[in-house]
Amino acid sequence: MIFRQLFENASSTYTYLVASEKTREAVLIDPVLEDLEKYTKLLDGLDLQLVYTFETHVHADHVTAGGTLREKLGSKTVVRRVSGPPCADIHTDHGDVLEVGDLRFEVRATPGHTDGCVAYVMADRVFTGDTLLIGGCGRTDFQQGDAGKLYDSVHTQLFSLPAETLIFPGHDYRGRTVSTVGEEKATNARLGGGRSREDFVQLMSELKLDRPKQIERAVPANLACGLDQQGRTSVDTAAQDAAMFAEALRKARLLPGGYREVSPEGAMAHLESFRIVDVRQPEEYTSPELGRIAAAVNIPLATVGRAMAEWPKDVPLLMVCRSGRRSAAAAEELAQKGFQELYNLVGGMIAWNDFKLPVKRGG
Ligand SMILES: [Fe+2]
Repeated sequence: MIFRQLFENASSTYTYLVASEKTREAVLIDPVLEDLEKYTKLLDGLDLQLVYTFETHVHADHVTAGGTLREKLGSKTVVRRVSGPPCADIHTDHGDVLEVGDLRFEVRATPGHTDGCVAYVMADRVFTGDTLLIGGCGRTDFQQGDAGKLYDSVHTQLFSLPAETLIFPGHDYRGRTVSTVGEEKATNARLGGGRSREDFVQLMSELKLDRPKQIERAVPANLACGLDQQGRTSVDTAAQDAAMFAEALRKARLLPGGYREVSPEGAMAHLESFRIVDVRQPEEYTSPELGRIAAAVNIPLATVGRAMAEWPKDVPLLMVCRSGRRSAAAAEELAQKGFQELYNLVGGMIAWNDFKLPVKRGG
């Protein structure tokens, strides 16, 4: 195995290059756009072919180099299905295994810092992203952060690994480079020493942290695989770059039913590009419980085929319901009627609310 730990100064991010000596295939974990040149030189120097870029989550503190590396080197971008951008090439689920030459990376879902966080377990080590840092953990106060979930993820997915497993985190602010599961279990200031879940949740709720400097630029850019480098907000961008968005969305896998899936965050970043159809019953649509997306029109599932018969077939449609099931059925029906740009909101309004995205309530 070839292994390099790289550091990006402005965001204190660790990027990892891991490659197979046998096949010369390489992966970069959490590459940062600013360090693009460093990566291409290193890959060249070591005579490696970049096959993947792995993201541990949608970052709020830096823009990923994943999309740009894909354009330059033909690598594939890998994100978790739950909240990863639709523009990525590969959407993973918990338990998936990715192979790079003779190396095997196991994907473990570790929600908490964000809902879409994952860790990659490879041989004697684990890449923990922001879920578990050396002596600490990622924050849980934005991007669907949830301290209870983070505690559970760390305990079930990371602390359950052998004590000697090496921990390579997504950041360090004090020059530390590596730790082990055993050390973190014993001494991690937030999660170690047998701290209870309750205590941890309390502790996290009391942290008063500044908003990350790059969040307005980084999150929308990362939801476009790092390809929007202008640093505009998602709202501006959505209005101005509808074509680019449609392009990014179309890269999502076309399902056998003739539609694509889009995560709540992905949909939010592209909201202005869609006509939004909510296929729930009218009383659910107006109910204050889950609310609705403000721009959504209500066309209950049973009437979709008839009511939408005359709609243009090439306008991107975002199909929405409570959990994502009825909207998938509606999308499938519309696909059979010749609609070409169908997107189903994964997890429906339940997930939309979990992500704390804006809703309109009432009649
Ligand atoms: Fe993060």
